[in-house]
Amino acid sequence: MGGTVAIIGATGGVGTALARRVAAGGGRPFLIGRDPARLAALAAELGAGHAVADALDGPALARAVQAAGSPLSGLAYCVGSIVLKPLRRLSEADMLEAFRLNAVGAMVAVQAAAPALAAGQGAVVLFSSVAARAGFPNHAAIGAAKAAVEGLALALGAELAPVRVNVIAPSLTRTAMAAPLVGNAQMAEAIARLHPVPRLGEAEDTAALAAFLLSEQAGWISGQIIGVDGGRASLRSRG
Ligand SMILES: NC(=O)c1ccc[n+]([C@@H]2O[C@H](COP(=O)([O-])OP(=O)(O)OC[C@H]3O[C@@H](n4cnc5c(N)ncnc54)[C@H](OP(=O)(O)O)[C@@H]3O)[C@@H](O)[C@H]2O)c1
Repeated sequence: MGGTVAIIGATGGVGTALARRVAAGGGRPFLIGRDPARLAALAAELGAGHAVADALDGPALARAVQAAGSPLSGLAYCVGSIVLKPLRRLSEADMLEAFRLNAVGAMVAVQAAAPALAAGQGAVVLFSSVAARAGFPNHAAIGAAKAAVEGLALALGAELAPVRVNVIAPSLTRTAMAAPLVGNAQMAEAIARLHPVPRLGEAEDTAALAAFLLSEQAGWISGQIIGVDGGRASLRSRG
């Protein structure tokens, strides 16, 4: 994989695994995150450029993405958070934050990168969730925000073509975000069994697909929403 790939959320489980894959494949990851110390450590490990920004701060995020330079061969928006609450307990602030972090942040990042992506005939990967297609209780804020990401990706794929835009929709994956849900072995085992391929996801499962979608090997793939979910969204488990 040649060229510069901007990775937003680079200190997350999937973002870090992707950054390492891009570097190992001969590309230049440009790392963006909100935690200066962890970002600098990863940048030093990979010999990569980096910029600090909170994804909820649109102008700062746009500046960080532009610092990656031009042309860009890829952009991955690996930012996310999850608030699981019954609808009656969701505040308007919860709803807006989920939408801003997952959907508006992605839109701002791609907007800032668009000229550099066009110059490199690049590719974009955004992240949805199994919860955008399969309904789960307590997932109203994240389900709505991730469904917005899927609609956003299709619009951008059409508008920015030949820049390619694809979405990965993971099920529960062992990263910091999932830690509260897989904190004890019994809970992890019970959730794993809900998947037709009965295990939890690993950051590498998702990063492998992201790296492929950003590479020239995926040069004719655009406008796709692909589950990395052990079949959870589309198959019935033998249970
Ligand atoms: N893990 C799962 O079970 C799962 C399931 C479905 C979808 N996904 C999606 O997969 C993608 C990758 O997530 P992951 O599994 O790698 O989770 P993760 O390890 O928790 O990473 C999430 C990333 O988002 C960053 N982030 C959160 N709020 C931010 C903010 N305000 N500004 C800047 N960065 C912020 C985090 O930064 P810090 O490193 O500083 O905390 C971290 O880098 C996300 O879009 C997530 O929604 C994950």
